[in-house]
Amino acid sequence: MTTELLAVRGLAKAFGLSNVLEDVSFSVMPGEIVGLLGPNGSGKSTALNVISGFLPRSAGTITFAGRDISDAPVHAITDLGLVRTFQLPSMPHRMTVREVLKAGKRDDGGRFAPVAYGPEIDVLLQEFRLAHVAGHAASALSGGQKKLLSVATALRANPKLLCLDEPTAGVHVSLRSDLVGVLRNYVAQGGACLVVEHDMLFIRDLCTRCIVLDRGNIIADCLPGELENNPRVVEAYLGKAIEKGGMAQ
Ligand SMILES: Nc1ncnc2c1ncn2[C@@H]1O[C@H](COP(=O)(O)OP(=O)(O)OP(=O)(O)O)[C@@H](O)[C@H]1O
Ligand SMILES: [Mg+2]
Repeated sequence: MTTELLAVRGLAKAFGLSNVLEDVSFSVMPGEIVGLLGPNGSGKSTALNVISGFLPRSAGTITFAGRDISDAPVHAITDLGLVRTFQLPSMPHRMTVREVLKAGKRDDGGRFAPVAYGPEIDVLLQEFRLAHVAGHAASALSGGQKKLLSVATALRANPKLLCLDEPTAGVHVSLRSDLVGVLRNYVAQGGACLVVEHDMLFIRDLCTRCIVLDRGNIIADCLPGELENNPRVVEAYLGKAIEKGGMAQ
C-alpha cells in the first residue's frame, strides 16, 4: 500500500469566534495532483497557511512524509520538502529575477542554499517566459509575472509536495497550458501537487483528484469530471449550474 505524502486529519482553524476551518480531513498521495477548490472565503488559503506552518492550527493533525508537522515551524516543513506559493506573492526589492531563482535551490541535504548559476535557471526562465526580464528587479514585475516567478522558484526548490495558491490568477491564458505541462512534468519526476484554483479548465487539464471546501468543511472528494454533477458542489457555488469553463466565474 502506498503511504500518504500529506495527511490532514480533523483540521480546524478559528480566528476569534470565526471557525474558518471546522473539520478538514484529506490526503495527498505521491504522484497526485489534487485540486483544492471552493467558493471565495471557503478557507482554501487558510488551509494552505496552516498546513505549511504559516498559521497555527486550532485542532487536528498534519503529517507529511511520515512526520508529524502539526506544530512544526515553516523552515522545518520547507526543509522536509513541502513548498508553497502565495495567492499574492511579494518579491524582495534588491534581487533580480535570476537572483530570486538562484536562491531557491535545495541542496542534497534538503536545505535551501544559493547555488552557482546553471542551465536549470535558464530552462525555468524560458518555461515561465521570464527570460527577457531575468535582470530586472523582481519587485518591479507585473502581478502575473510575480506569480510565475513564485511558481518557478518553488519548483527550483525541488519539493516533494508543491502547494500552489491560485497559480493562474493574473496569468495570460496562453501560458496556462504551458503551466500544466511544466507541473505534470514535475509530478512525473516524483513530485506531487496540491493546487488551489478557480479556473476549472486548468483544474480539469491538470488535476487527478479534487477536494471542495465550503464554509470550512470538505463537501466533495472526487475526480475533476465528477464536479459538475455533484449537487453539493453545485449548491456551494451560489446554487447555480456549473457553466463550461468555470464554476466561480
Ligand atoms: N488572518 C485572518 N484573520 C481573520 N480572518 C481571516 C484571516 N485570514 C482569513 N480569514 C477569514 O477566513 C475566511 C477564509 O479566508 P481564505 O482566505 O482562507 O478564503 P479562500 O477560500 O482562500 O478565498 P479566495 O478564493 O477568495 O482566495 C474569510 O472569511 C477570511 O476573511
Ligand atoms: Mg485564497
